[in-house]
Amino acid sequence: MDLPTVAGWRCPVCGAHVDIASPLQWRCPRAGDGRHHTLELVTAAAPLRPTGDADPFVAFRHHLAWDAYAAALGLTDDARQAIVRDLDTKVASVAGTGFRTTPFVRADALSTALGFDELGGVWVKDETGNVGGSHKARHLFTILLHLVTTELAGRAPWSSPAARPPLAIASCGNAALAAGTLAAAVGWPIRVFVPVAANAAVVARLHELHADVVTCPRLDTDPPGDPCVLRFREAVAAGAVPFGVQGPENAWCLDGGRTIGWELAVAMDDIDASPFDRLFVQVGGGAFAACVAAGLAEGGRPVRLHAVQTEHCAPLERAWQRSFGVGGPAGAAAHWDECMWPWEHVGASAADGILDDETYDWIPIVRAMAATGGAPVVVSEAQVLEANDLLRASTSIDASATGTAGLAGLLAVRDQLDPGERVVVIASGVRR
Ligand SMILES: Cc1ncc(COP(=O)(O)O)c(C=O)c1O
Ligand SMILES: [Zn+2]
Repeated sequence: MDLPTVAGWRCPVCGAHVDIASPLQWRCPRAGDGRHHTLELVTAAAPLRPTGDADPFVAFRHHLAWDAYAAALGLTDDARQAIVRDLDTKVASVAGTGFRTTPFVRADALSTALGFDELGGVWVKDETGNVGGSHKARHLFTILLHLVTTELAGRAPWSSPAARPPLAIASCGNAALAAGTLAAAVGWPIRVFVPVAANAAVVARLHELHADVVTCPRLDTDPPGDPCVLRFREAVAAGAVPFGVQGPENAWCLDGGRTIGWELAVAMDDIDASPFDRLFVQVGGGAFAACVAAGLAEGGRPVRLHAVQTEHCAPLERAWQRSFGVGGPAGAAAHWDECMWPWEHVGASAADGILDDETYDWIPIVRAMAATGGAPVVVSEAQVLEANDLLRASTSIDASATGTAGLAGLLAVRDQLDPGERVVVIASGVRR
């Protein structure tokens, strides 16, 4: 029998450890002391052994931190499998699809258009058909699994499902839609904190999903910062469950996000044993790139990572540069304030999903770039738009500009690449 491969969590900033069996421990136990904290998984080196199931949460279940958590709470292997299957059915009834392995194929016309030869090319992982239309639900599903399992094991502090604390998220994009979808699947109350100028179609869908949508104008008494995040933090302080895709707010989102990297590793093995040369990932809050890189490394297929941001908001690139002044990327966690702080003047971009003023999950990304010989790429707005046109013209994937921003990174450095290089991009969200 496979044994769980996750031992627990560790804060790379303060060194605190969290046992894998700790219920509802979303953050570093020392968070709130005025410093930045975050948690990273402590995993045992174990070869990826997917079962071949079409549902990645079933196929890779033994590699999930959630599986180790549920086992520690006394749930049997069969019971754990049944929880995943049951939740997937419920998600599918709301989303129209459950979690399924997403396609990874060489985009031939795109590869030719970019001048790659037949040995090289661009391979696209297509996340547009995921639950909620983006990769975001992959991250949130392990938080949901954790909540449901805690209840089932009788370890929840609330007395009955009727007394569940609400979920909370500050987002008006793909993360909000994914969160609303998962909450609706299990009938868990959710509060979504959105800006005054939130996209009307997203808000309408959130209402359909019976989310409590809270519009957040800036109040005279507010300190600097996004008022949606301020209201979100107040809700969490009052007992709501952080249900977003930012590691420092809820580290459990960093568990399920790895399924995308694991799928990529397995798909690469199915193609051949030759390495892929580069991976371009669009970075907003950073959980996505952090998880894809972790999943690939765990799957034994690390790829040179290029984190892509727009010139209108590039705090990660600044952190990368700053890290070399404090001893290098590997030890940068001890220098958070010197490396990462909110981008002062965030400009507008068609890739509006990657305009987070702070890259919350920056530490694992700078480490992964250093470990793989990668580097950040900052793209112009023209490249953001060109990449989106190019992917939609050369493939059948109808991705948003945020979803094709990684390809914009490839466009920005294309003339430095060899035509025989094998490049990976991820179409992370559907066009709405
Ligand atoms: C489609 C899409 N791709 C990528 C991202 C960036 O993910 P992260 O914020 O985890 O860096 C987002 C975030 O909103 C998104 O919606
Ligand atoms: Zn800490």
